[in-house]
Amino acid sequence: MRLPKRIKMVEVGPRDGLQHEATIVPTEVKIKLINQLSETGLAAIEGASFVSPTWIPQMADSSEVMKGIKRRSGVSYPVLVPNLQGFKAALAAGAEEVAVFGSASESFSRKNINCSIAVSFDRFGEVCEAAKKQGLRVRGYVSCALGCPYEGNVEPQTVAWVAGRMMELGCYEISLGDTIGVGTPGKAQAMIDAVAEKVQIERLAVHFHDTYGQALANILAVMERGIAVIDSSVAGLGGCPFAPGASGNVASEDLLYMLKGLGIEAGVDLQALVAAGRYISDILNRPSGSRVANALAGQREKSTPCV
Ligand code: HMG
Ligand code: MG
Repeated sequence: MRLPKRIKMVEVGPRDGLQHEATIVPTEVKIKLINQLSETGLAAIEGASFVSPTWIPQMADSSEVMKGIKRRSGVSYPVLVPNLQGFKAALAAGAEEVAVFGSASESFSRKNINCSIAVSFDRFGEVCEAAKKQGLRVRGYVSCALGCPYEGNVEPQTVAWVAGRMMELGCYEISLGDTIGVGTPGKAQAMIDAVAEKVQIERLAVHFHDTYGQALANILAVMERGIAVIDSSVAGLGGCPFAPGASGNVASEDLLYMLKGLGIEAGVDLQALVAAGRYISDILNRPSGSRVANALAGQREKSTPCV
């Protein structure tokens, strides 16, 4: 197995996770969570999204969150923006990196951002142009990279086309999202192979939701293809309100544990990450979605820690 020596973990819990909670998490909790995550060694923490508060009320306080966090040098704090309006609000809140989010499924694009894929390219183009003028980096997401909640199968060539177009528009990196977590390792590799024909592998990231328990297997499979940027979510938080039935992202703690076991450097402290996951799980009043965090908590109770 040829695997990367180093992986960049992109933490999406404060955004992907908290956008999906039934109850709205208080602003100060979001700020505390992001600040705690900033102390773990993570190099990128997606903190918020500047979207319609009618559609996603959970993210309505994104300006306050971004203004309230303590930015740590060397850490980037990207935020989602669907259009120029969102970009302007993000900029005013001090964002230094934004992410546009498209889809490889026409139906999901319309449900999620209320426009066709073609129109979304126009909006992303405007954001990329404005970001370039302001010196901000733009990350791009392609949702439904391994399946769509409305259309089912999604062809790898369609994912490659959308990813390639977003790259042309000016994104520096494309995160390929298995939004509903249906992918399996062979399909994930085939999708990466198709996309790599249009976008250099070094510019690709993956974003696996773990609905069917395939996320870690998929990550291992795509790391074999050279993928070295992986999105994950502390305590396995996550989901998308427009992707019914989808569960959280791969838990950051579980990803890090696997990377450590493989001898792959991520620069992140597992205990600190587990503590951040415990903080937000306690606030949400439910067990962590991370198997590793739960295993370590069990060991702590028995006082025989091994990590
Ligand atoms: P729209 O209704 O089509 O927008 O929404 P519009 O341009 O017709 O404007 C209607 C109203 O929305 C107006 O307000 C605008 O001001 C307002 P009104 O005049 O009625 O009071 N509006 C905005 N407000 C705040 N911020 C904005 C904004 N834009 C317009 N940026 C829109 C279009 C995209 C805004 C809407 O569909 C939306 O907000 N959707 C939310 C999408 C979302 O956040 N989805 C979840 C994140 S994506 C995800 O989770 C997947 C990912 O994790 C990867 C994966 O898992 O695959 C990234
Ligand atoms: Mg997601």
